[in-house]
Amino acid sequence: MERIDFDCLNRLAYKYGTPYYLMDGDVFLHNITSFKDVFVSKYPKIIVGYSFKTNYVPALCRIAKDAGCYAEVVSEMEYDLAKKIGFKSVIFNGPIKHDSIIWKALDEGAVVNLDSLYEVDSIIKYKQKRPNKEVTVGLRLNIDLTDSDGISKIQCGLRVGRFGFTKNVLVDVIHVLRKYGVRIVSLHGHTSSSDRAVANYGLIVTQMLSLCSELHLDDIDYFDVGGGFFGAAAKGIDVSDKPKYSDYADIILDTCLENEWFRKVQPNIVIEPGVSVVANVFSYVSKIFQTKEIAGQKFLSTDGTVFDVKPTLHNNNLPHTFFTKTVADDTYVASLVGSTCMEKDVILSNVRVPNSIKGGDYVKIDGVGAYTIVLTPTFINYLSPIVSIENSEEILVRRRQTLSDVTAVYNNI
Ligand SMILES: Cc1ncc(COP(=O)(O)O)c(C=O)c1O
Repeated sequence: MERIDFDCLNRLAYKYGTPYYLMDGDVFLHNITSFKDVFVSKYPKIIVGYSFKTNYVPALCRIAKDAGCYAEVVSEMEYDLAKKIGFKSVIFNGPIKHDSIIWKALDEGAVVNLDSLYEVDSIIKYKQKRPNKEVTVGLRLNIDLTDSDGISKIQCGLRVGRFGFTKNVLVDVIHVLRKYGVRIVSLHGHTSSSDRAVANYGLIVTQMLSLCSELHLDDIDYFDVGGGFFGAAAKGIDVSDKPKYSDYADIILDTCLENEWFRKVQPNIVIEPGVSVVANVFSYVSKIFQTKEIAGQKFLSTDGTVFDVKPTLHNNNLPHTFFTKTVADDTYVASLVGSTCMEKDVILSNVRVPNSIKGGDYVKIDGVGAYTIVLTPTFINYLSPIVSIENSEEILVRRRQTLSDVTAVYNNI
């Protein structure tokens, strides 16, 4: 990406208006390749299923496709988008799949991982209508992510996760599917945790392996450990005590390669990274409109909004840089507040800002690639454009939304 300075941001602002996102496709490709490489160095049959839900900007997904990734999708919308982008290989997860989309995905050769019993009924109906077709499916195993201290590591501290089938139910499901001649070719163990700890993958893989060997799942071609990894942190975030891609590869592969069933069957291992490959791929640039002081509290008002950079409204200040026309060494403390006329629209809380900052300057927020653009509906403002800069070439991958875009889905307007 070209050197980011005031003049560069100002030039883009003049051309596209503010706020806007910057996308760095080279960083994305580097993340995906590095993640895959550390696995492949230990075991050759590795598939990366890029998690669409994390960020499905088509220009980004196309990079994943060209790098040989599968699309990992969890809804009809994501499935259709993956096909439109040109993915031939799709892993279809998620808890709700209507008959029409499950059947279409099976017709088109997707790896469909079932989450619930109603989907088993749907598969049986599909098979009964096509008795001569080889029908294959995957199953999601509900993982017990309780650590050795008895603490549940499931996201948000939940006692149990709701996805997939418990082992007991799976025994019956496998029996029924086999009875109808459906082959089970995939086992899915994705389990989101809050800490993204390496040890969680030991628990996931061990439970998957024990099911595979106990139930003789020897047709498994996709041993899918899911996503939920750490990685791709923006510069400025302290990652010294965080796991690296290679730590996950070590625990997953060391556990698998020790296992007799795994050594016999040698399935593909699937990883489904999202955050860990895309978080540092996007930044967000907005313009400062004014500085304010109210009852001793200093504010910088910008045309950006917190809903564009952290729609979950968490309290962490993301890495950021101010770009001022006039350079100053001195700083003062202020909060950066957004354009949506909501008190909670606080993008940065009590951070150091240059003394010289004034209207017309810029702020760039980094690390906004994951669960941002996909979670941002049209709220008060038009959706912002996305500009990708690769090898000094600038490409507008999304234009600013217009009123016609907003009204297109409404009748009688
Ligand atoms: C099935 C599945 N795979 C992959 C992911 C990606 O997770 P992350 O973005 O945390 O890596 C998720 C996220 O919830 C998921 O549900």
